[in-house]
Amino acid sequence: MPKPVILDCDPGHDDAFAIWLAAGDPEIDLRAITTVGGNGTLTHTTYNARVVTGLAGIAGVPISPGADSPMVRLLSPAEGIHGANALGGPELPAPTVAADPRTAVELIRDTLDGAGEEVTIVATGPLTNIAMFVRTYPDRLSRIKEVVWMGGSTGRGNITPYAEFNCWTDPEAAAIVLGSGLPFTMIGLNVTHQVLITPEVVARIGAVGNRTAAFGVELLNYFNSTYETDQGMPEGPLHDPVAVALVARPGLVTTVRTRLDIELHGTETAGATSVDLLGKLRRPPNASVATGVDVEGFWRLLEDAIRALS
Ligand code: BDR
Ligand code: CA
Repeated sequence: MPKPVILDCDPGHDDAFAIWLAAGDPEIDLRAITTVGGNGTLTHTTYNARVVTGLAGIAGVPISPGADSPMVRLLSPAEGIHGANALGGPELPAPTVAADPRTAVELIRDTLDGAGEEVTIVATGPLTNIAMFVRTYPDRLSRIKEVVWMGGSTGRGNITPYAEFNCWTDPEAAAIVLGSGLPFTMIGLNVTHQVLITPEVVARIGAVGNRTAAFGVELLNYFNSTYETDQGMPEGPLHDPVAVALVARPGLVTTVRTRLDIELHGTETAGATSVDLLGKLRRPPNASVATGVDVEGFWRLLEDAIRALS
């Protein structure tokens, strides 16, 4: 049976691919999409979620906007990577899918209440919405199977020397979700930087030949150009769909149980993830952390999912 999933995201180029993978893969039953301010303002990320679902022919999945800013910090969108509208590159068609009138927290609540089984939350942006849900509905947490999050790193960062963007944007939210006791899996830069958008990958996605693939190629080319300028990586990493892939095919991503803590106060390291792979802190493990990915298996999965869309 396909796994019920709520996708919380901030589209965002790689978030768009996460949506497409979640909607197009037969092992996932995408029940809801919630959006958060991150790569762009909430207005942009919600609009972009509506655009990329509509053009891919994804119907019947409610999309609700959530938090427009982090819990205690100011939002600083990733314009250098994702452009001024968070989805730079292609001309955006008018969205054919309306936003749901409920807030993200309300949509998560209703989706969990109506599911009749535990639901996995895949989060590919700052964890603000999920932290708000934890704080608002602590009585509903048993209905969440696990939180699988693209964020953090076992090594260095991408927005500061030690912090990854999603964690750095709202570290307090990450700490709240991690401290909630919910089963938590982190897929960080140490793994997503293995999933690089090579010219061969772009050609393979393009060869799928449908509308989603054509739009996707424009996104990939833009993303690679900004990654080259901003990060010195002409073949950018397609972070977010790796979190979806782990849920769809757990065997594709290797994880270890370890201690994960979020740096909230460091003068140079706020938003960094402390991953105690050697167990030096002697604290109990509290998370699964990704350490490897089957890169070819991942691209095949993504290609197949895009093929299943319009
Ligand atoms: C994360 O930050 C965003 O730019 C991407 O969408 C991804 O979720 C990578 O650090
Ligand atoms: Ca994202």
